[in-house]
Amino acid sequence: MQQVHAFPTLSGPLATASAYANGYRETKTNLHPTATLAELRKSFGGDLPAKGQPGEDVIAELIQATEPGLVGNTQAGFHAWVMGGANITGVAADWLTSIWGQNAGIYKCSPAAATAEEVACNWLLDVLDLPRDASVGLTTGATMAGFIGLAAARDEVLRRAGYDLAETGLQYAPPVQVFLSADTHVSNRAALRFLGFGQRNIVEVPADDQGRMDVTVLGHKLANSRAPKIILATAGHINSGAFDDFPALADLAKLHGAWLHVDAAFGLWARANVTTRFMTRGIERADSWSTDGHKWLQMPFDAGFAIVRDRDAHRRAMDITASYLSEAPDGGRDATQFNPELSRRARGFSAWATFKSLGRDGIADMVHNHCACASLLAHKLRRVPGIRILNDVVLNQLVAVFDPGQGQEAADRATKQMENALNEDGQHFFQTAQWRGQRVLRISIINQQTGPRHISALAQKIEKLWSDIRA
Ligand SMILES: Cc1ncc(COP(=O)(O)O)c(C=O)c1O
Repeated sequence: MQQVHAFPTLSGPLATASAYANGYRETKTNLHPTATLAELRKSFGGDLPAKGQPGEDVIAELIQATEPGLVGNTQAGFHAWVMGGANITGVAADWLTSIWGQNAGIYKCSPAAATAEEVACNWLLDVLDLPRDASVGLTTGATMAGFIGLAAARDEVLRRAGYDLAETGLQYAPPVQVFLSADTHVSNRAALRFLGFGQRNIVEVPADDQGRMDVTVLGHKLANSRAPKIILATAGHINSGAFDDFPALADLAKLHGAWLHVDAAFGLWARANVTTRFMTRGIERADSWSTDGHKWLQMPFDAGFAIVRDRDAHRRAMDITASYLSEAPDGGRDATQFNPELSRRARGFSAWATFKSLGRDGIADMVHNHCACASLLAHKLRRVPGIRILNDVVLNQLVAVFDPGQGQEAADRATKQMENALNEDGQHFFQTAQWRGQRVLRISIINQQTGPRHISALAQKIEKLWSDIRA
């Protein structure tokens, strides 16, 4: 019979943290920080005490200093950036991860962490319907997942050109060309920079009004290149949610011997739901994919997944080996083979728990629900004179402009005014950005808490505020 644990009553710092945490999300009604930087510095500041203090006092003080500086990104009204809501079961697993204090670098350091990670990676490939024998690295987010995918790409395209990157280094290898959309996410440019690629390695391909790469221009540019090539595509544009034309990109990659990497920080999850899956058609033909755990999967920060079709290329790019880091038994998982870190957090526990808590249907329903909410909001706002939705609402993203009809500057001003007005009562958190030469309100619907009820209330609020601004 399985042993049943008796859970003793908590005491000390954990009791304080737990008692507070249980009510936090219910009481966090203002989504905006209320303290200034100077005030926060003052609350956290002072000299390092010479003597240590009791843990529960430290935690109580931490809570007091922190509260006024917190952002309510776990709440239903948070639409400013593409961030999930930190699934509470995933959070509980994340607490335990810290209690257990496991180092997930290699199997021997924590067989449980390695196995939870192995199973979570299998579930990931299954729910996203990607090649089941692809290798996966658990990362801090999509930026590092992109870094890993592109590192594998760099290694492999140079190997195909006859260069062993481990031997020659980048300096003695021919320049690689990376073909990407002019509207690619900034994190991709950062990942390329970390990998030693400069602007001269990048071939910019124009994007259409939704941010999709122009495949005809890409085809011409690829045909004119003699270099080892990487194509960097997008599933789920940061503003519009748009998807590149993957069947065409996969054909071009094949024709020109290029590696196809897809930045799919949140768009890949469209694949988990039957009504949105069609947008990812052809994505399964890519060589590598980067996605986030802390966006649509709702894992607590920080979590991402680097998925690489060619396990050997992945390992060549990342492997850290030494005689004292012995290999796992029976094909067990040594995460150092797939990640740039040696010591690392055991993210597999929260990944495993979040997957279990949502289940396959829960993930599909959530994606479906968020996309339906986005369509509903677009439908309601499009009917209001002066509100323009710039993007084709295909996913969970809306890009709105508030235009009183007096030219671009007035529209920019009104859109900024709308951001301020929406944030005023603390119930919502919105952010504007500059996109395609104008100020836009970005609306991301991706928090597990957010449903049609919130969206209807939001539509009414926007309509009322817009009528006040116009008046
Ligand atoms: C399309 C896209 N790619 C990459 C990223 C970077 O993800 P992360 O912040 O998890 O590193 C984001 C973040 O919003 C994104 O939307």
